[in-house]
Amino acid sequence: MFDPIQAISDFVRAPSVSTDPAFAAGMAGARDVLCKLFRDMGLTVEVCPTPLHPVVLARREGPAHWPHVVIYGHYDVQPADPLPLWTTPAFEPVIRDGRLYGRGTADNKGPQMAHIYAVAKLLEKNPGLPLRLTFLIEGEEEIGSPSLEAFLAANKERLKGDFVLLSDTMSPSADQLTITTGLRGILCLEAELTGPRTDLHSGIHGGALLNPIQALAELCASLHDADGRVNIPGYYDGVQPVLAWERAELAKLPTTREQYRKFLDISDFHTWGGMTPFEATRFQPTLEFNGIGGGYQGEGSKTVIPSKAFVKISCRLVPSMDPARIEALVVKTLKERCSPKVKIEVKCGHSGNAYRVVPPDRPDTPADQSPVLAAAFRAAEAEAVKVSGNPPIYLREGGSVPIIDTIRRTLGMDSVMLGLFTPECNLHAPDESLHLGLFAKGAAVSEAVLAAVAGMAPRTN
Ligand code: BES
Ligand code: MN
Repeated sequence: MFDPIQAISDFVRAPSVSTDPAFAAGMAGARDVLCKLFRDMGLTVEVCPTPLHPVVLARREGPAHWPHVVIYGHYDVQPADPLPLWTTPAFEPVIRDGRLYGRGTADNKGPQMAHIYAVAKLLEKNPGLPLRLTFLIEGEEEIGSPSLEAFLAANKERLKGDFVLLSDTMSPSADQLTITTGLRGILCLEAELTGPRTDLHSGIHGGALLNPIQALAELCASLHDADGRVNIPGYYDGVQPVLAWERAELAKLPTTREQYRKFLDISDFHTWGGMTPFEATRFQPTLEFNGIGGGYQGEGSKTVIPSKAFVKISCRLVPSMDPARIEALVVKTLKERCSPKVKIEVKCGHSGNAYRVVPPDRPDTPADQSPVLAAAFRAAEAEAVKVSGNPPIYLREGGSVPIIDTIRRTLGMDSVMLGLFTPECNLHAPDESLHLGLFAKGAAVSEAVLAAVAGMAPRTN
């Protein structure tokens, strides 16, 4: 029987940074860890090449009348930089105070292990379990999953299941399990402004021309109102009102506004229309500056008018906002508002749709919701009550896992998402960690969900 903490630690020791080709060996190492685990569980394992990072597919086949659950995860991680800010090295996992520290412990190596461990336990208890399973573990989530859509399309038949089970989302605390009912979409772009053909002496030429950094600052400043609302006509078209049941769930959040403010260490929130920060991050789109640059960045001073300035922007989208429409709108706005005294070039990066799934028994539950999906939600809730003493809350999240909507569109499957990291887990930041108590709850919930779904297989004798 495998030790799940040991397995996560082995997995984290493989530095699988997908964005940097220097980490190719770490990517291969992470795949090896997965393949060994899956083979030891008796699954059929394939490492499927893609134009970039291979997909690991592990399957338990069975008769067509058995339910089929697809379990999604990603074996890639974000870069560990800035390395000096880690208390202990990023790829040397250690436990402190009930948390396992290391890059990828929370995003996504630990949470996906809850499902791997659950399957291992179930199959050990019942080797004849009437359940088909496919683990779909990709290596490109942190760079926008460029290869996965084509992979899904090419493998439609064997990937088609009743629903997807995954944990790549958040719970507000280790005591309050969350079933995630939505994700924001995303769209990334970059604008580069060019003024003079070369950097200039600011004494010789200063006063004669528009500095591209100034043009960029004015352009960026034009994109929001004073209260933070995105100042682009049409940006909010189609944004849906929040339903009463979702508001009621939001009200169950254990975190107070003041706790959140202190956690962020900011003097005040910046939301528009009287929205709470919890509502704003889940139900509203944003336009965010992720990086800005140009000119001299080194020690001391340099009297220069730079030739170029750039900004990196990402937009978080909510359901019914089409990434292509928003991309066109933002590009058009940047070009229109940029001073004609500098040149502007806009490069568009990856994008993905928002996603929303409605649990059973809600006013807007689709009438044709799959009974297997409904059973999975109900089993998750019942087990969450058992392991944490309180029912889960059903919340949308502000983060993005764009492939979840792609799976819905290409394969027609919805997702059951169990939040297994918390705000303290430092995703994408130094000292990332996994709360081991929450991990254990997640593994129990996953096991209960899979057992309940297997219980829906029609009896054949
Ligand atoms: N696990 C996160 C997404 C997430 C974070 C969901 C917080 C819910 C709450 C995922 O691995 C991630 O970081 N996604 C990226 C998007 C990707 C296209 C780069 C993100 O949200 O920035
Ligand atoms: Mn991530």
